Amino acid sequence: MDLDAARRLLATHGQAHLLDFWPRLDEARRAALLADIAQIDLPLCDRLVASHVRRSEPAALPARIEPVEIWPATPDAARQDVYRRARELGEEAVRAGRVAAFMVAGGQGTRLGFDGPKGMFSVSPVRGATLFQLFAEGLARAGERWGRPIPWYIMTSDANHDDTVRYFSANRHFGLSEDDVRFFQQGMMPAFFPDGRIVLAEPHRVALSPDGHGGSLRALAASGALDDMRRRGVEVLSYFQVDNPLVQMVDPLFIGLHLLTGSEMSSKAVTKAHDLERVGNFCRADGKVAVIEYSDLPESLARARNADGGRRFDAGSLAIHVLSREFIERLTTPGSAVELPWHRAEKKVPTIDADGRPVSPDRPNAIKLEMFIFDAIPLARNPLVLYTRREEEFSPVKNAEGDDSPATARRDMIRRAARWLEAAGVAVPRGADGEPAAKVEVSPRLALDADDLRARLRKRPELRPGDAVVIE
Ligand code: UD1
Repeated sequence: MDLDAARRLLATHGQAHLLDFWPRLDEARRAALLADIAQIDLPLCDRLVASHVRRSEPAALPARIEPVEIWPATPDAARQDVYRRARELGEEAVRAGRVAAFMVAGGQGTRLGFDGPKGMFSVSPVRGATLFQLFAEGLARAGERWGRPIPWYIMTSDANHDDTVRYFSANRHFGLSEDDVRFFQQGMMPAFFPDGRIVLAEPHRVALSPDGHGGSLRALAASGALDDMRRRGVEVLSYFQVDNPLVQMVDPLFIGLHLLTGSEMSSKAVTKAHDLERVGNFCRADGKVAVIEYSDLPESLARARNADGGRRFDAGSLAIHVLSREFIERLTTPGSAVELPWHRAEKKVPTIDADGRPVSPDRPNAIKLEMFIFDAIPLARNPLVLYTRREEEFSPVKNAEGDDSPATARRDMIRRAARWLEAAGVAVPRGADGEPAAKVEVSPRLALDADDLRARLRKRPELRPGDAVVIE
């Protein structure tokens, strides 16, 4: 795009101010600004300014919000056979190369306060392995266990793509074949002032941020990742977020239930820790299975009880899904593509004043718009939701301290490793409070779950209080 084209385009869309500082910019900065402008979908922005920026009333809630049926973590007698068949079917699909892992890692990780891609955060309790390393080791083990390398699609964004790719290269993809680790970038969206003007972050930079993990669907299509999957015979994507070191990235039972029930998009849930836990809530919204984000669910519903005293909306979303490739193709086919809804958030966005000097706002000054992957659930045929055990599968790293922090993730990794070791016949010292008194870490390269560890543990370690031990 050249200056004239940019000027004409921006004028048509009421965004001419993006070139206000042009006369002052050197060549390199001019090029950077034009590249930012070229990334903006201006007709889409026009639409969203009208529908989401200039108005500020909260998004309309569905008229009917009801609980939804959830498959139990452990089958009752009637379902034992179905779970057994599902597990076989899931394993068969993995062995046949029909399953890929799909990780979203495009977010900015602002809450954690870590400067860099979140996947490079060192999280494991003894080795200090990073999130990326843990996932890579787990996928290497999964490929070995089921006799077939599992392709891994990683979504990054402009904010962290280069750092992520460099990190994997520097670590030789942690032993995975380079061909099985595919990176692609999601789209970016500008931030808007309440009057609809796009925000400049610097005189030569537009304030752009990733378009939400819901943007992954169109990014899968636009980047060619879907074509790559089709070529490889991948039919099912096992979706997870970069922030959860406990995730079972490839779970044959979950994949098998998805296949067996003809679901197009399936999800894992846990019993909520408390009424207002900051997780999405599974429900039936106007008759369709959906997730309502914690920030959108009215508090009266979050606190509502059943006759037996149980929580009426008790199923929290782990952001773990299985999606069928054909479902994503259906949603992204040019001409009939389905747009996921946009969510509006008021944020503090660093900007510049009329003289181009930096301004760090102390309260929200701009609007960011994002799409969420779970908004695809109501569009899916036969969506399935499966309960899983929090202590086995969920301890995300989101905040620097407190709940969902590195400290709680490390604690939960140690607790899980201790349980697996005990199930394998190892005596784990425990304190008076019942907590493990040794720091234990099981490398995902060795074992993916308690059964795997029991089968593969070569010798039983002697653990003493205060030890820090890696089982690998
Ligand atoms: C998210 C879910 C919530 C769920 C919880 C479970 C949303 C809005 N909410 O909360 O329902 O219960 O996880 O842990 O998602 N990401 C991208 N690109 C983006 C934005 C995010 O790849 O543009 C990735 C991040 O890298 C991260 C994940 O998505 O892996 C989570 O995003 P985040 O915004 O932190 O969601 P949460 O509020 O933590």
